[in-house]
Amino acid sequence: MKGIILHGGHGTRLRPLTHTGPKQLLPIANKPMSQYALEDFREAGITDIGIIIGDVYPEKVKEYYGNGENFGVKISYIYQDKPKGISHAIKLCKEFVGNDRFVVYLGDNILRKGLIDYKNNFESSSNDAMILLCKVDDPSRFGIAEIDSESKKIKKIIEKPSEPKSDLAVIGVYFLTPKIFSIIDKLKPSARGELEITEALQLLMEENNSLQYETVTGWWKDTGTPEDILHANQLVLDSIGKENQFVIDKGSTVKGNTVIGKETEISSNSSIQGPSIIGANCRIGPNVTLGPNVSVGDNSILENCKIENSIIMANCEISADVHLSNSIIANGSKIEANNDQTKHELLLGERSQLKI
Ligand code: G1P
Repeated sequence: MKGIILHGGHGTRLRPLTHTGPKQLLPIANKPMSQYALEDFREAGITDIGIIIGDVYPEKVKEYYGNGENFGVKISYIYQDKPKGISHAIKLCKEFVGNDRFVVYLGDNILRKGLIDYKNNFESSSNDAMILLCKVDDPSRFGIAEIDSESKKIKKIIEKPSEPKSDLAVIGVYFLTPKIFSIIDKLKPSARGELEITEALQLLMEENNSLQYETVTGWWKDTGTPEDILHANQLVLDSIGKENQFVIDKGSTVKGNTVIGKETEISSNSSIQGPSIIGANCRIGPNVTLGPNVSVGDNSILENCKIENSIIMANCEISADVHLSNSIIANGSKIEANNDQTKHELLLGERSQLKI
């Protein structure tokens, strides 16, 4: 079985974070979100992986994943010139897929439970496709599946219905066979100008092919907005465990589950509350109150600040009396504050400079 990770798209709802790179490289608990998909593939024994790159800094994706060697997989890159839809991206993989069954994983989706069980079930079936469904509160944001109450089979799949008849979202992990290619050839662009995967699945059913589904257990997260990213960060941190390699000053405390990287120093009068992750080579303190639900990337310096429920990426400097909550601060940003007591919720793109 082969794997395909979708790594294109413009991520407009995440600007300014996506002005300097594809959204799928944004870190969740200090790891690019698409790496969760790649690791799910590897764990399920799928090591022949195609990554669809788009027109937002595709070279950054290649630079990070390379040929896949460092991640224990083999990667082929497939270029999609414009975000013309999931089905369009799949169509570009026809040659890569050959006669194999394959799994398409949207690089901005994170699935708690991984793929192993689903993959085994699909492999041992003779179904033409399998999708995963998850109950959601806001069904009009997703592709939705209606299930027949008697036969328990999928009746209809519809993309972002304005009046949803079901709250079961079709999540961004699709188990497919090469049958899908001739179906996609029959699709026309939707109202948003894309070849929709939901329309391909609907047509697959209409042409009497078998479409199986499973309901997701554990959580699933689509990270389309900054709020989603912070929520995903919190969900991943919830099961972070403990792995600490830091140097701590006497007057400071570390509580709860924390992962703290090599050479990181926590200096006087600071407290770290888990679940939180801090990268390598950071300087935390003096007078820092950090956590819960905070991720800090490598080489960041935090002084005299209070931070909770936030992502501070690598190489950031935050100094002097600032309180951040629900914030995302991208790489290389600098925040200076002068005795500022207000609680801020910030979204800063790469290398921002802020004086409060
Ligand atoms: C896409 C699919 C949608 C699916 C969602 C899952 O939506 O079109 O059917 O439910 O991914 O993340 P998009 O992210 O393009 O709005």
